[in-house]
Amino acid sequence: MKIEKVGVVGCGLMGAGIAEICAKSGYDTIAREVNDELLAKGLDRIRRSLDKAVSKGKLEEDQKEEALGRLTGTTDLEALADCDLVVEAIVENLALKCELYTALDGIVKRSGVFASNTSSLTITELAMATNRTERFLGLHFFNPVPIMKLVEVVRTMMTDDQVFEQTKEFISSLGKEPVSCRDNSGFIVNRLLVPYLLDAIRGLEEGIGSVEDIDKAMQLGCGYPMGPLTLLDFVGLDTTYFIANIMFEEYREKRFAPPALLKQMVLAGRLGRKSGRGFYDYAKS
Ligand code: 3HC
Repeated sequence: MKIEKVGVVGCGLMGAGIAEICAKSGYDTIAREVNDELLAKGLDRIRRSLDKAVSKGKLEEDQKEEALGRLTGTTDLEALADCDLVVEAIVENLALKCELYTALDGIVKRSGVFASNTSSLTITELAMATNRTERFLGLHFFNPVPIMKLVEVVRTMMTDDQVFEQTKEFISSLGKEPVSCRDNSGFIVNRLLVPYLLDAIRGLEEGIGSVEDIDKAMQLGCGYPMGPLTLLDFVGLDTTYFIANIMFEEYREKRFAPPALLKQMVLAGRLGRKSGRGFYDYAKS
């Protein structure tokens, strides 16, 4: 298994970051979105992030141009046919992901490896939508992808040992640190992080402190880079709501149950930074 060409399906917040670091690390990268508008938005996100890296002194201008030269965009799944690795980063919805994997299975060369960036579904249930369960694993990146060092590399009981080890080497080649995880919903990070974030919302509902004070307490008291409610706005309240529902369904434990306030904010369109308002109002800043 030699990885030279990487396909990234979904060019939103996470997919764009994944495509960016692959292209930056020397891989031919092809990003796929469902329509021209979303593709243009995703590619623009990558360009802006590369510009930021240049302005922060993390990247040279010619390295940026080289990365952009290795990156192409498409709306056509067939364009991924000769990818050595396909990383999927679409919406957290089991039916949509399975439908996509079944289609990709018929398109991508047999030696191609499939990876999902899912944050809460199990890799096993996604792998079963294909006939390449031994070449199927989880690659869970963190937001913002160009900055966060960790990638959870997740194996199922069907994942081939060599595929697993070589994919970990691929992750190291991106300048990231891999950790090996078993295929449990939420893997390591979300298994610990999601109950904490949901508990911060429950604390707010119970009046333990204001939005600002809850955040300040955890940021200054524990040295976290962001307070939990700021982090929720950053991750997206809709994404967190999807994740919580999936994890609650899996574990049936109250700590994973989405609080009423989270559901109401999602219904009201207060999704965090992406919609301009969540626990904080970003339209003002
Ligand atoms: N490319 C490369 N490097 C970049 C960059 C870019 N586009 N933009 C910024 N950087 C670098 C900066 O140069 C800086 O590096 P330095 O520390 O060596 O100087 C560093 O990244 C931090 O950049 P900034 O100074 O612009 O940003 P802040 O210091 O304000 O930090 C943050 C921003 C990294 C987002 C920080 O607040 C943080 O770590 N927050 C927590 C994020 C987190 O917890 N993410 C995980 C979410 S959970 C998840 O994703 C899982 C999902 O399943 C829910």
